[in-house]
Amino acid sequence: MIIAPSILSANFTRLGEDIRTVVSAGARWVHIDVMDGVFVPNITIGPVVVKDIRAVTDAFLDCHLMITDPERYIESFVEAGADGITVHAEATHHLHRALGQIRERGCKAGVSLNPATPLDALAYCMDLVDVILIMTVNPGFGGQSFIHAVTPKIKQAASLIGDRDIILQVDGGVDMNNIVMLRDLGVTSVVAGSSIFGCQDPGRMVKELIKRAETQVC
Ligand code: DX5
Ligand code: ZN
Repeated sequence: MIIAPSILSANFTRLGEDIRTVVSAGARWVHIDVMDGVFVPNITIGPVVVKDIRAVTDAFLDCHLMITDPERYIESFVEAGADGITVHAEATHHLHRALGQIRERGCKAGVSLNPATPLDALAYCMDLVDVILIMTVNPGFGGQSFIHAVTPKIKQAASLIGDRDIILQVDGGVDMNNIVMLRDLGVTSVVAGSSIFGCQDPGRMVKELIKRAETQVC
């Protein structure tokens, strides 16, 4: 299980320190939520910040673009040092082209689906996908509750992936209470923001989540 702490819930006045804490606790990915105030109601960070993050960590920089027409910014995020770029199927008229552009630039290509979006959107581009990101909250904010109605879609995504080398990621409302259930559904990466950075000891929470995800239920 790849734990990807979302820096949306980190303290931006000491971002480098927060990132070092979670990475040294075992998080291999750092999840960066990019919001444009159009596709989602919130505005967050752009390539300038990604570039500075790149300078302080070797962790995989997992850039989740919650922006309209994401193709316009793929190049900028690649240049800034992204390792993976995930675009929303709902945010582009040309998902197939966008995924190809990400791959061509040497990044892992991800596609994200809002809670109400069916898996059908992926049907004809599976050969271009490295990461499928199932949103379990409506994107835009950290600290929301996990939407249980999305659980069947996670299961269907796992069977769609089958033997393919595709990471199944879930984002939104992930914590100690649902990580085992997600793992059992076939999820191979979880994004967690408030459950990690909202607690007293984010490093310890990363370790606990990793340990919990490795727990074998008899
Ligand atoms: C929501 C973002 C998430 C968010 C998750 O739009 O994509 O990555 O930071 O936050 P939590 O884990 O608090 O639900
Ligand atoms: Zn995200």
